[in-house]
Amino acid sequence: MLAELSPKLSVEIQRAAKLLTNPAPVCVLTGAGISAESGIPTFRDKQTGLWQRYRAEDLATPTAFVRDPKLVWSWYQWRRQLVHDKKPNAAHCALAKWQQMSKANHQSVTLITQNVDDLHEQAGSMVTHLHGHLWRNRCHDCGTPFENEVEALNSSKDAIYFDDELITCQHCGGYIRPDIVWFGESLPMQAWQTAEDAAASCKVFISIGTSSLVYPAAGLAQLAKQNGATIIEINPNPTPNTVVDITLAANAGIVMQLLIEQIDARS
Ligand code: APR
Repeated sequence: MLAELSPKLSVEIQRAAKLLTNPAPVCVLTGAGISAESGIPTFRDKQTGLWQRYRAEDLATPTAFVRDPKLVWSWYQWRRQLVHDKKPNAAHCALAKWQQMSKANHQSVTLITQNVDDLHEQAGSMVTHLHGHLWRNRCHDCGTPFENEVEALNSSKDAIYFDDELITCQHCGGYIRPDIVWFGESLPMQAWQTAEDAAASCKVFISIGTSSLVYPAAGLAQLAKQNGATIIEINPNPTPNTVVDITLAANAGIVMQLLIEQIDARS
C-alpha cells in the first residue's frame, strides 16, 4: 500500500516508523480530524465544520448556557444524535493496536484527545480526554454528575431518545449540561496533568487531526519540542504548528494504518 502513496509521503512514513520503532515514550494528541472518516464533522472545515455553520459563542460557552440553556442543550442532543451510531475508523483502530503492541515492548504510548466522542475507547484504547465527554452530564451549578438514560443506555445507543427538554439537578435545581469543556472554562486538572507529563517526557510527539488553534492543548507540541522530542504531524491540511519535524500530509486512516504496519514489521 505504501507504493500507492506519493514518493514523498511514503519516505516520510518510513522515517516516522523508524523513529517509532525505538521503544522510547510517545505522546499522541488527537483532534476532530481523526473522527472525520467516521462521519463526524470537524469544527473548522470550510464546508462541513460545525463552527462554520454555528457560532461557538452561542453554543459552547458558559455565558451561552446561562443565556439560553434550552438552545445549548438541544444543540448537544442533536450532536449526540449525529454521533451515536458512529464507529471507530482505521486510525482509531491502528492506534489501539499500537497501544496493545507497545505494552508487550514495554513502550509507553500515552493517548490524549481533544475529542468528546468515545471512538478511541470503542476501538480499545486507553485515552485521556482534555475537553470532556459527550455522553456524560453534570449540573451546571453544583457540578454533581447526572446519570440518565443517555449514559445508562450508552452500550445500546440505538435505543436512545434524544429528548431536548431541559433536566434539573436533584440536589440544587440547577440545569443539567453536557460534561464538556466550553470556551473560557478550565480543563480537568487530572487530565491536563497527564497530558503535560506525557508531553514533557516523550521522545516523540504525534499530533493527529487537529488544527492546533485551541490552547492549552495546542501548546503540548511546543512543550514536547522544548524537552527534546521529535514532532510528527498527521493532517491533510497545513496548520500553524511551527515545531513539526515530520509532516504526514494525508488522512489519518491511511497514514496510521501504514505507520503501524511499518512499526510492526520493524519490531
Ligand atoms: N485525517 C487527519 N486530519 C484531518 C482529517 C483526516 N481524515 N480530516 C480533517 N482533518 C484535519 C483538518 O485539516 C483540521 O486541521 O483535522 C483538523 C480539525 O481541526 P478542528 O476542526 O479545528 O478540530 P480540533 O483541532 O479538534 O479543535 C480543537 O476546538 O471547538 C473546539 O473544543 C473543540 O476540541 C475542539 C477544539
